[in-house]
Amino acid sequence: MPAADAPIGIFDSGIGGLSVLRHVHALLPAEELLYFADSGFAPYGAKPESVIVERALAIAAFLLKLRIKVIVVACNTATAAAIAALRTHYPQLQVVGVEPGLKPAAALTRSGKVGVLATAGTLSSDKFLKLRQQVSEQAQVEFLLQACNGLADQIEKGETASPETARLVQRYVAPLVAQQADTLVLGCTHYPFVEALVREAAGKGVTLVDTGDAVARQLERVLRQQGLLCTAGDGKVSAYTSGSRSALMTAFSRLLGLQPTVEAVAAAVAPA
Ligand code: DGL
Repeated sequence: MPAADAPIGIFDSGIGGLSVLRHVHALLPAEELLYFADSGFAPYGAKPESVIVERALAIAAFLLKLRIKVIVVACNTATAAAIAALRTHYPQLQVVGVEPGLKPAAALTRSGKVGVLATAGTLSSDKFLKLRQQVSEQAQVEFLLQACNGLADQIEKGETASPETARLVQRYVAPLVAQQADTLVLGCTHYPFVEALVREAAGKGVTLVDTGDAVARQLERVLRQQGLLCTAGDGKVSAYTSGSRSALMTAFSRLLGLQPTVEAVAAAVAPA
């Protein structure tokens, strides 16, 4: 049984999970957070599920050595591909995943058409297909799916406002709005960092759905249920990356205004 003052592990294919970490840090300011950016292997979006499962298991093993009490899979693609494998391999570990916010979007839409922006991997996964079917059975909603190839790459490069990224966002968002979607789901944790571009491309009257806050609240519920909520810690944040240390430091500072200690992890520590 882990201790309540043990850290929370959070990982993503890269810096996208920072859009989840910011909500966790705001809601649970006393919790110690360990963030793992698998930027050396990003993007996950077009990789076979078996590769993502391997990465997720290796990252969980790495974080477990650092004695985490729970792991947050802050990546829609990795949740869809690997959450079942994580639960099977580490039955003692609490696992919290993310999924595109189809349910909140179905409650918000007035036109009955919801656009879903996500990676090709998420949109073609069994987990997503089941979710879509389940929500469609409960609500009269048409989901328009849009795989955003290359968008997470642009965000990894730090290009959250460049003309090239704006063109890419416009290319993905315009057809959804043209088909009367009035609600857009940000179904990849990287995309909240280009929210301004999505809003600009979508125009007025379109609502965006991001589940970062809901994931933080779900994490709080899980910790409370397990008696693992920490209320007296100092909220230290540390980070690890399989990619560039300076790129992750820059991303933390630019996107969240945080300056955690960042360590580059050799491929041998988190094997491919
Ligand atoms: N941030 C990830 C997600 O939520 C994946 C981006 C990628 O690596 O392709 O799906």
